[in-house]
Amino acid sequence: MADRLLTFSIFRYNPITPEIPPRMQEYQLEETMGMSLFIALNRLREELDPSLMFDFVCRAAICGSCAMLINGRPGLACKTLTQDMPDRITVMPLPVFKLVGDLSVDTGVWFRHLNVRTEAWIHTDKVFNPEAIEERMDNPTAQAIYDAERCIECGCCIGACATANMRADFMGAAFLNRIARFMIDPRDERPMAQYFDVVGTDEGVFGCIGLMACDDLCPMEIPLQGQLAFVRRKMAQMALKCARCK
Ligand code: FES
Repeated sequence: MADRLLTFSIFRYNPITPEIPPRMQEYQLEETMGMSLFIALNRLREELDPSLMFDFVCRAAICGSCAMLINGRPGLACKTLTQDMPDRITVMPLPVFKLVGDLSVDTGVWFRHLNVRTEAWIHTDKVFNPEAIEERMDNPTAQAIYDAERCIECGCCIGACATANMRADFMGAAFLNRIARFMIDPRDERPMAQYFDVVGTDEGVFGCIGLMACDDLCPMEIPLQGQLAFVRRKMAQMALKCARCK
């Protein structure tokens, strides 16, 4: 591998010091074998600038903390190899979420709101019996639930979404994927009308303009447009049913 000198142009702003305006700051670093953007950022922080802020926990595309805009596209720093990037790499924080500082954003508040608003737990009147044998579920249903559960709440789909970037009230793909997860689950006894109240609106499933960036950029490759289509179909059926009742 030929040695390359990489140039990083990184967004800098700390809300604690608003008198220093947002700016792009450049750093240079020699590329090493197998270097990820996460490793590069750590080296920049350790060797050149200890004030650089960014988030990480797992370093293995599991926790979702290191999502950022990498050359204009949302992605995980720990999953992005510099060998796949040009010599010049621009890094910015994910849009839509509240900026903590530099590349660090607060996705926690957004996802907590999602979990509260979607009531992200199994709704059932059945009383839990610890002695009972587990109920069986057919494999395709279990697989469909597992697919939706693979979301690591990184926020890439939200940062990539044109509608979410324009409208603060738009729920976005992660939200609709969570709803799909509970709609699929036969243990959840919520009536469709209850889901309709949450996502059957312009803020929800009918606000998507179908640009599909969420689907293209999900680091876990969750078929988000498929999930959205599933929820939209259910909500449209529900709306038709209600119209006929009138
Ligand atoms: S550090 Fe956990 S996903 Fe990148």
